[in-house]
Amino acid sequence: KRPAGAPDKSLARPVTKVGVVGAGLMASQLALLFLRRLEVPVVLTDIDQERVDKGVGYVHAEIEKLLGKGRINQDKANRLKALVTGVLDKAEGFSDADFVIEAVFEEIGVKQQVFAEVEAVAPAHAILATNTSSLSVTEMASKLKHPERVVGFHFFNPVAVLPLLEIVRGEQTDDASLATAFGVARKLKKTAVLVKDAPAFVVNRILTRFMGEIQNIIDEGTPVETAEKAIEPLGLPMSPLVLLELVGPAIGLHVSETLNRAFPDRFTVSGNLAAVVKAGKRGFYVYDSGKPELDP
Ligand code: 3HC
Repeated sequence: KRPAGAPDKSLARPVTKVGVVGAGLMASQLALLFLRRLEVPVVLTDIDQERVDKGVGYVHAEIEKLLGKGRINQDKANRLKALVTGVLDKAEGFSDADFVIEAVFEEIGVKQQVFAEVEAVAPAHAILATNTSSLSVTEMASKLKHPERVVGFHFFNPVAVLPLLEIVRGEQTDDASLATAFGVARKLKKTAVLVKDAPAFVVNRILTRFMGEIQNIIDEGTPVETAEKAIEPLGLPMSPLVLLELVGPAIGLHVSETLNRAFPDRFTVSGNLAAVVKAGKRGFYVYDSGKPELDP
């Protein structure tokens, strides 16, 4: 059944090569997913060789894990490894890519710049997708010559496990680009939903209310341990503060800042969370002994 709001799939264009801008936490997971499900060349780029190598290294290591678990055979592992490459030069990497997804720093100016650079080197038909957590897809596309090919493609961490994908239609996104995005989502075996181009879309808007309230409770003086214990009966798949570590506190902070700007009556920015990010910490816990312990 066609997802609500998805255009006719006959409009979808084929995707035979994928570009990923960024090689960090989300980007490298995305590279692995596209590689595994589409089995087409996937090329990663980042701002320096070290990051690029780290991203490709992650993909190779995950392929080895899949092999070790018997999910793929040796032939497939070799094939997948040969299909993933990392380059510094976007022109070299993206000149024949049909679908380029960015997962770089959550800052509108940075993302606009990345898209301008990609547009300058990618084919005219290439889809430019963004994994932004909270920023406006319309605004990200606004400076391009062809804003109609920009779509939001928002995944959830861990990407390999969580089935949901929020697809965002910008004001100028055309039907062929959207149909291509839904076609790719189907091949990725994700459950795609079309969401409005509103701050933080749907999931992060709800999650941030929830996480924000826990932060507020902690900011008001309730110990972290008590807050975590008290919500255990809700039966969440993992503790919200461990989830914050999985997602990355800086991302959590960016999303809450975006939402605070958009809806100041409903969203706050936690002082404790801002302090965690400023101190460059992983989260509210330390793992010195190997087990999570509250950061004193
Ligand atoms: N990365 C990759 N794979 C992971 C992983 C990780 N961090 N954590 C677990 N997995 C895999 C395991 O390898 C295992 O795979 P397998 O079946 O192939 O062996 C599978 O997930 C299940 O793992 P476990 O049995 O060890 O663990 P759980 O059953 O406890 O599930 C979990 C782990 C899936 C992480 C679960 O706790 C969960 O769903 N947590 C909530 C995650 C969530 O809410 N994410 C959304 C965050 S919001 C977001 O990302 C948006 C952004 O914009 C901020």
